[in-house]
Amino acid sequence: MAIPPEPGGRQKNVTPQAPVDVVATIKMVAEQLQHHAEQRGIDVELARSFEGGKIKGTAQALAEALQNLIWNAMEATAPGGLVRVAVRKQGETVVIDVSDDGPGIGREHLSKIFQHGYTTKPGAKGMGLSIVERRLGELLGSITWESPLNHGHGSRFTLTLPLIPPPDAPATEVSVPTDPL
Ligand SMILES: Nc1ncnc2c1ncn2[C@@H]1O[C@H](COP(=O)(O)OP(=O)(O)OP(=O)(O)O)[C@@H](O)[C@H]1O
Ligand SMILES: [Mg+2]
Repeated sequence: MAIPPEPGGRQKNVTPQAPVDVVATIKMVAEQLQHHAEQRGIDVELARSFEGGKIKGTAQALAEALQNLIWNAMEATAPGGLVRVAVRKQGETVVIDVSDDGPGIGREHLSKIFQHGYTTKPGAKGMGLSIVERRLGELLGSITWESPLNHGHGSRFTLTLPLIPPPDAPATEVSVPTDPL
């Protein structure tokens, strides 16, 4: 199932943009999906190695990209399995991995999964990853994926998003030594 943009339709002319707190948004999405995860007997784990990263854009864009990736990961995961979301800082970017221990993606599908309408799931619309791609464009981010992983199954989708640089450290007074006259 793809998570479509919120009802209400078209974007207004001016989208309010405040710095988006990455970890807070991930937590919000994980909470939203908690109920579905419990129903499916799946654990969603969040591993973070840094806090406080902010990106430009809207929390809704980041949330929608994550919802669709986590949803796909949950759909690929058998009851009792684990979906892992990991956040880390890498240079001037924040990197978010969404990984699962599902069967992985068949080689014949790999090049097509981002095509609008491409699906291998009965009754699905094949919308999720094209929504992810569109939302990432709004966030000036990029996505890579690896599947199957080294151990022969499982998938990992990796988002890389440019961080807003933290404000410069407050200017401190520097006394400049002067030559005696
Ligand atoms: N984590 C994953 N594990 C295995 N296959 C995946 C995973 N994520 C995506 N895929 C593959 O990519 C295809 C496209 O995914 P996408 O989210 O665009 O559509 P969908 O999940 O099939 O349908 P929708 O999102 O509209 O409900 C899926 O049908 C599936 O074959
Ligand atoms: Mg999907």
